[in-house]
Amino acid sequence: MTQDEAKRLVAKRAVEFVKDGMVVGLGTGTTATLFIRELAGRVQSGGLKIRCVASSDASHELAESLGMSVATLTELPELDVYIDGADEIARVPGLGFGLIKGGGGALLREKIVASAAKSFIVVVDSTKMVEVLGKFPLPVEGIKMALPVVQPRLAALGLNPTLRQAKSGDGPYITDEGNYILDCACGRIDDPQKTAAAIRAIVGVVEHGLFLGMATLALVAGENGVSEIRP
Ligand code: A5P
Repeated sequence: MTQDEAKRLVAKRAVEFVKDGMVVGLGTGTTATLFIRELAGRVQSGGLKIRCVASSDASHELAESLGMSVATLTELPELDVYIDGADEIARVPGLGFGLIKGGGGALLREKIVASAAKSFIVVVDSTKMVEVLGKFPLPVEGIKMALPVVQPRLAALGLNPTLRQAKSGDGPYITDEGNYILDCACGRIDDPQKTAAAIRAIVGVVEHGLFLGMATLALVAGENGVSEIRP
């Protein structure tokens, strides 16, 4: 099974967790996009009545273009479920699941929308399941004017930050909230809570891509289909 096939499979399964009347948080990224398309199919066929809040402008626009009802947190501050992908997922002793997110640049809004939901289902292909987090560079979102302060402080923590560039080649990548992202090639993160706290303590950092103890269920697609893994 290719990674794309696994993403499609898990996106399809995730739709089964969405019930009539729910307020659903839509994630961002390739897996979340497949999920949004699947979900829209159920809505379009008239089989499902839901309202959504998206974690990025891209997902908001996609869902709307597919005829879904998408609101903001102002209108719907409490969600039943948030469904999104991840760049890495591991079990963190005493915390449940630890995730690295933000490869797609939406980590700040993703964390906010996830925090507003009663449950958070993470949907991944099995290549994302790791023993220890950190092979995937950890994204850190920071205020633009603070870059000359934040970058050296992350470097001093040994996190090897690199300013993310826009795919268009037009300079730095800018998030939906108008911030920069520093991708930290830090290697294995043995104590995610400690790393998260050290990053959070830097003034000018807005958010980091460590989602600790937030996911309530992982759907993992591999050769044997989709496994449901609880923290
Ligand atoms: C977006 O900012 C990310 O957090 C994504 O959820 C994460 O990068 C997983 O993306 P894919 O589903 O594209 O692998």
